[in-house]
This record gives sequence, C-alpha cells and structure tokens, in this order.
Amino acid sequence: MKQFISVDDVPSVPRLVDIALDYKKQPFSDKALGANKTLGMIFLNPSLRTRLSTQVAAKNLGMEVVVFNIDKEGWQLEMNDGAIMNGNTTEHVKEAAAVMGQYFDILAIRTFPGLKDKESDYTEKYINQFIKYAGVPVLSLESATLHPLQSLTDIITMKEQWQQPRRPKVVMTWAPHVKPLPQAVPNSFAQWVNAWGEADFVITHPEGYELDEKFTGNATIEYNQDKALQDADFVYVKNWSSYKDYGKITCTDSSWMVTNDKLKGTNQAKVMHCLPVRRNVVIADEVLDGPQSIVIPEAGNRVWAAQAVLSQILKG
Ligand code: CP
Repeated sequence: MKQFISVDDVPSVPRLVDIALDYKKQPFSDKALGANKTLGMIFLNPSLRTRLSTQVAAKNLGMEVVVFNIDKEGWQLEMNDGAIMNGNTTEHVKEAAAVMGQYFDILAIRTFPGLKDKESDYTEKYINQFIKYAGVPVLSLESATLHPLQSLTDIITMKEQWQQPRRPKVVMTWAPHVKPLPQAVPNSFAQWVNAWGEADFVITHPEGYELDEKFTGNATIEYNQDKALQDADFVYVKNWSSYKDYGKITCTDSSWMVTNDKLKGTNQAKVMHCLPVRRNVVIADEVLDGPQSIVIPEAGNRVWAAQAVLSQILKG
C-alpha cells in the first residue's frame, strides 16, 4: 500500500483483516520489519485510542514513533496554495509537510472537518495537501470525512465475533448527541461494510440525516429504528450531524438512544461504538455495562488494524 486514506487504498479487505488477526495472535512476528523506520504522528485534534493504539502497533513492528500535537505546539499552518500570508498563519503546508517528510518514513495525520463548508471538508483539503507535499506515504488517523483505521477495526471485530455460516445483519443506527459531530465514522463504516461484502447492511436515522450515497451504496435505509433493529446481529451506534443541512443538529429526540428495550427485538445483538461515547445520551449504562456490549474488545482491536496497515505500507 502506498497510502491509507480510504478503503480504496486497500487491495483486499478480507486479506487485510486476516493479517490483522494474525498479528493479534503473534504481535511481535514482524519485529524486524520496521527497524530503523520512523512513524511521525501529527495531531490537529484530540485522540485517545487512535494515538495510543497506533503507537503500540508501530512499536510491535520495531518502528520508532514521534508524536506532534501540531495544533498546540506547531506553527499555525496555511493550507491554501497561493495565499498571501499576511494574517495569522505562519508556515505553509508546502514547507511543513515537506520538512516532516524528511524526518519520517510514514506520516500519519488526524484532521477533523470544520463542519461549516461542505465542499472544503468533502474535498479533504487538509489531508490532500499533506499527501501532495510530504513525499512519503500518508496514513489517515481520521480525516474530515473518513476514519478508515476505525472501520477496519470494526470489520475485524465483527469477523472474529461472528462464528455462524449465515451472513450477519449489521445495523448502523444514529443516536442523539449534544454537539454536532463529523460524518467520518458513519461514512467510513458504510464504505467498509459495503467493500467487505459479508453482511446484510441496514442504516437507520431520523429524516434529514441521510449520508452521501457514495458511502452508503446499496445499504437499506430505514427511518423506523425499531423496525431496522429487528433481528440485528450487530448494532453499530453513532451520532453524526446532518449532511444535507451541513453540520447542523436537526434532531434531538432522545428516544433514539440505544437501551436494553431497543435491543429486545434483535438477535441478542452485539453493540459496537467507536468511542468516546456519551453515556445515557448515545447509549444507556445498562447496555454499555451489559453482556451485549463489545466496545472494549472493539477498541482493543485498534492495535491490530493499525499494525496490519503499517506493515503493508512498510512492505510498499
Ligand atoms: N475511536 C477513536 O478514533 O477514538 P479517539 O478519537 O480517542 O482516537
């Protein structure tokens, strides 16, 4: 792999999942692969899981890791080519990315959307500028519209949890939140479930929360959450802000929160969430603390997803 920005960079999703599960069994089997290589991890936004799991994964492969919270510790970056830099920005991404490309063998970046300008967010301006100027492979730690390391983790988790010969029913449900959140996780989850191709896939959300069809593909869209959850094997819970009324919260209906009552019609579904999760707003305590929640092993699998991706980039 030359970069990891979306599922389109992956030659085979099932193969990448198998590589990740092999690393889960033998974390240090490729300890020599990353020797004398350095991963630079650049954060423009906060992170717990992505930051720590990717560092552990890189170390399992023998890599050195440098973490840079560029939003707090770096110069303010200018992202627009041709800009007259007489305002607040101090350093152009042309130099910043190119310089970091001199120091690191792989550059990993987290950059959230502004949620104000749909076109700017959906052209992935930030991460594309780093790709353009870094001169080394770029790995997304979550970009404006996609979170591929999370989605690979989610496929790995479903694959290892599902032991039956029939296809699982996977339902991604919108849930309420107090802040407008990006569409990156649901876009990406939809994209990866479709590329995986081993599940019957339903998406449920209030009207007005439709995601771009380029991600949802042939998934069934069902506006009635109870109907959607019927016979579900996996329930993937996530809030996102409106794509149509871009970046806005247009529904605050708390009845969309996932509770034990909501799960009654499912096939004792396993409940997933990328975390962090706001308890008793998005998912009730009784679910997160109950036997159907797999959010902790799901987060644990972030290491193996990152290790699989790094290994494939190191192998070129
Ligand atoms: N799920 C996820 O990406 O978690 P962090 O934002 O803590 O990295």
